Amino acid sequence: MKLLILNGPNLNFLGIREPDIYGTQTLADIENHIQQYADERGHSCEFFQSNSEGTLVDRLQQAHLDKVDGIIFNPAAYTHYSYAIHDAVKAIAVPTVEVHLSAIHARESFRKESVVAPACIGQISGFGATGYTLGIHALEEHQRRLT
Ligand code: DQA
Repeated sequence: MKLLILNGPNLNFLGIREPDIYGTQTLADIENHIQQYADERGHSCEFFQSNSEGTLVDRLQQAHLDKVDGIIFNPAAYTHYSYAIHDAVKAIAVPTVEVHLSAIHARESFRKESVVAPACIGQISGFGATGYTLGIHALEEHQRRLT
């Protein structure tokens, strides 16, 4: 599969940002691990992070044009209020798994709602960086069910 691993605002600050919640690994550490996992399974991976809503929308649309097979997406804070990102995920014909490092349902009440999740095939939350590789596994199963 051709995969896109997409990360939203402040995730470029992993390793620095609230390590008690998000861990000490940097985004580069996490991406290296994902790359290794994807290589072992014969998937190709592209990585992209942005702090801007419009740039994330553009990248989602590009994934459609590039005929990406699946997206692992941590929309970060946009999860909770970005209808533009919800609409972009809905607009593209690319199965998308929403991933969160932290257990969003066990945190502040504003984090319990995801406006992006209804546009996704599923959501993984609370397993740290493992969530991204679990997301790849979920996409494999999703594709298997379709073929
Ligand atoms: C997050 C959870 C969001 O609530 C938060 O705004 C983030 C990170 C996570 O990965 O746990 O930036 O998406």
